[in-house]
Amino acid sequence: MSAITNLADPMDSLQQLVIDATTEIGDAISIDQLDAIDTTLMGRGSSISEARRGLGAIKDPDERRDTGRAINDVANQIKDLVTAKRSTLVATEEAAALAADRVDVTLPGRIPPRGTHHLITQTIDEIVDIFVGLGYTMARGPEAETEFYNFTAMNIPETHPSRHESDTLYLDYGEKDGGVLLRTHTSPMQARYMEQHDPPVYVVVPGKVFRSDAVDSTHSPVFHQIEGLAVDHNITFADLKGTLATFAREFLGKDTKVKFIPHYFPFTEPSAEMHAYSNGRWIELLGCGMVNPAVFEHVGYDPSAVTGFAFGMGPERLAIIRHGITDIHGNNDLRPLLDPDQRILRQYV
Ligand code: DAH
Repeated sequence: MSAITNLADPMDSLQQLVIDATTEIGDAISIDQLDAIDTTLMGRGSSISEARRGLGAIKDPDERRDTGRAINDVANQIKDLVTAKRSTLVATEEAAALAADRVDVTLPGRIPPRGTHHLITQTIDEIVDIFVGLGYTMARGPEAETEFYNFTAMNIPETHPSRHESDTLYLDYGEKDGGVLLRTHTSPMQARYMEQHDPPVYVVVPGKVFRSDAVDSTHSPVFHQIEGLAVDHNITFADLKGTLATFAREFLGKDTKVKFIPHYFPFTEPSAEMHAYSNGRWIELLGCGMVNPAVFEHVGYDPSAVTGFAFGMGPERLAIIRHGITDIHGNNDLRPLLDPDQRILRQYV
């Protein structure tokens, strides 16, 4: 920038100052930069203020006045240039900030990961659906159960080991005689349901059951069962076999072979286990049998008028069989199902 006082003609140097300032202001790309230019052009120590200070040295009053005017003129021009440039820069910076903050409403939304039902719930739903397809309804019952329904009504004798405190989780609730416990199976719902409904009865009851067991590959203190009960006129063991074989084929595949092996349960007579041939070996799927007339008597059904069959299965067990859930040695293991590890659970969505 030319120093006005150094030039022979101050008017010329003022003119040059305007030309230079116009370029400099025009080239500013930010408000900060413009502020700096403004200070250099107009602030203390600028050519303008220097020129103003030099006015006193001009002796001729006319010349002093003309020079003073010319300086003011230049100062005003520069001020106007800075003001105009400032509003352009403000507008540009605002537009840039808006562009940076802009929300593109046309972008696809972020889809949050969707929850799914746990494999145990999926398995229960699927099993219940199979029986609903066969004409059954679904019921649920209390997890805290009385000794009467859990044992006595199911014809489980006083001396049965499952009544023992080391096998069953008793609750400190009510009186010991006829006390309350966490149900050890869903079978008590057979009695509760029959008390509430006249025959015919076709019902499945899924739910949690509890036992005094530590967790290992086949045990857990909390697990699920699905109870089934069919009571009608002239129900036979053939109905039991047909129904449960149909279930096995629906659940494990249409060519699944099943066999029935004699067993003992207090609430059914005769009793059996149904085994299925799966992955090259026979595995136990469920317990079943013809309803013991003693159970009908407990609920007020006439054992000479109706017959029925019952069954109980464990969805955890069925899930690990069907999905081949094993430990590293290839043995079925239910523990991965109890583990809230997403890497396991995500495989079954
Ligand atoms: N309640 C039996 C248990 O927990 C399972 C069971 C077996 C249920 C045979 C039944 C049945 O209804 O007929 O081991």
